[in-house]
Amino acid sequence: MERRSLLVSDLDNTLLGDDTALAEFADWYESVRANVSLVYNSGRFFHSVRESVRSTALPPPDAIIGGVGTEICFPADGRRLDGWPQRSKLWDAEAVRDVLNAHKELTPQPDELQSSFKVSFYGLDLTEEFLQHVKRQLAVLGHSVEVVYSSNRDLDLLPADVNKGCAAAFLAKHWRIASECVVVCGDSGNDLSMFQQDFLGVTVGNAHDDLRQLSHDRVYHARQTYAAGVLEGVRWWFERTPTAIAVRRH
Ligand code: GLC
Ligand code: MG
Repeated sequence: MERRSLLVSDLDNTLLGDDTALAEFADWYESVRANVSLVYNSGRFFHSVRESVRSTALPPPDAIIGGVGTEICFPADGRRLDGWPQRSKLWDAEAVRDVLNAHKELTPQPDELQSSFKVSFYGLDLTEEFLQHVKRQLAVLGHSVEVVYSSNRDLDLLPADVNKGCAAAFLAKHWRIASECVVVCGDSGNDLSMFQQDFLGVTVGNAHDDLRQLSHDRVYHARQTYAAGVLEGVRWWFERTPTAIAVRRH
């Protein structure tokens, strides 16, 4: 792929949430698509994301990262990117599920939101203390796990080093796109890992505090919400990124 920049965005409450703003985003993207690849990075699985692309103004993406970083798919043929996620002997979905099932604070998410790499629960307003306790408990039992908590409700357990950020980094490397040419956008806890890579980041105006509190020179906090915030942020970065000169001309 010869395009210079890569835009990786979350969907729910980031690109999705305001139809008028999404239509504006889609118009803008149409004008830069020759230079910018587009990837959706969602907590939902590939088929659900593809349905959103079909039923909304979301532009067709070059790839879809689904299930909180646990799958990387190419929408044209549904093919998965080989080698992702890396398998680990320290990941045992059933055993992790059993440990978590014992906590009365948690309710398993429906079966269609689970996979062999993603074990998900609902748990309202879980405290940092509780999350640390779960992490310690899993570590003591020899499980190497990512514990991802989003929107004060969704708890995802994933193999270590499998998350939205690591998946985006794997894909960028596959396409040979340098980190400083990658802009990531998000609104909630499962997006945090994208901001922990060397990418340029955008939080939308409606993002949760855990993202809005990030403060480093590679994060831009948009004032506008949903797709309007994404557009504000990507424009801000593309005006400052030397590699995006071609984009700036539009
Ligand atoms: C999406 C997924 C859900 C997950 C949440 C947060 O809503 O469907 O399983 O827990 O994202 O990552
Ligand atoms: Mg979201």
